[in-house]
Amino acid sequence: MGQWDVFLSPYKQAVDELKVKLKGIRSQFGIVNANSPIEFVTGRVKPLASIYDKSLEKGVPFEPSDKLAEELQDIAGLRIMCQFVDDISAVTELIRQRNDMKIIEEKDYITHSKPSGYRSHHMIVEYPVETLRGKKIVIAEIQIRTLAMNFWASIEHSLNYKYKGVFPEEIKNRLQSAAEAAFRLDEEMSLIRSEIQDAQTYFSEYKEDLAVLTNNPEKEREK
Ligand code: GTP
Ligand code: MG
Repeated sequence: MGQWDVFLSPYKQAVDELKVKLKGIRSQFGIVNANSPIEFVTGRVKPLASIYDKSLEKGVPFEPSDKLAEELQDIAGLRIMCQFVDDISAVTELIRQRNDMKIIEEKDYITHSKPSGYRSHHMIVEYPVETLRGKKIVIAEIQIRTLAMNFWASIEHSLNYKYKGVFPEEIKNRLQSAAEAAFRLDEEMSLIRSEIQDAQTYFSEYKEDLAVLTNNPEKEREK
């Protein structure tokens, strides 16, 4: 088990650092009172059991190795959730502009959704972490999606797990129609985007004023 810990530690480092950095984008928008294209960020190192499953699927030996690191590009995984579809391209552009990571691949499952109904924008990046033995470049997968896309994907993921990828016809059809509903929800929200954003700006300024009035430093810090 020790060998896996050593193998996975730069990935853990990368996920921790990238979470801080991506969340930092959100807070920077907050500081200038602008609507953030990022709603929230999550990250995880792929659990060993999933690494095992994926290595079998890909026919790569299940052992800590460069080969495994090359073949499994989502050992370090970050997820960025957006309110609106247009925010996704804003976020990908912000990531493209950065100097601390190098994009090696992008997959647009938004204009070309998967047959399952899955939609998201994926960026595969190389990210350098400093270790005791010097610089180590790790591969990370950043998935960028709306809240609606995320809702659909997490439900589908659980069902996929339960049915091991072989859905009963009824469930498959329901999932497809749920994917269409999520797509329409995104479209509807886009149509009233400026209305929503005005309200959100108003609400966050209101919270700010309230924090100053009540001299509540906790509230000030929450922003
Ligand atoms: P793997 O799917 O990781 O073997 O590699 P790939 O090159 O096919 O990458 P792909 O972009 O298809 O998928 C990478 C990740 O996207 C997966 O690990 C999931 O997190 C997510 N994903 C892709 N397709 C689906 C899908 O149909 N449903 C759900 N819920 N997630 C998906
Ligand atoms: Mg796949």
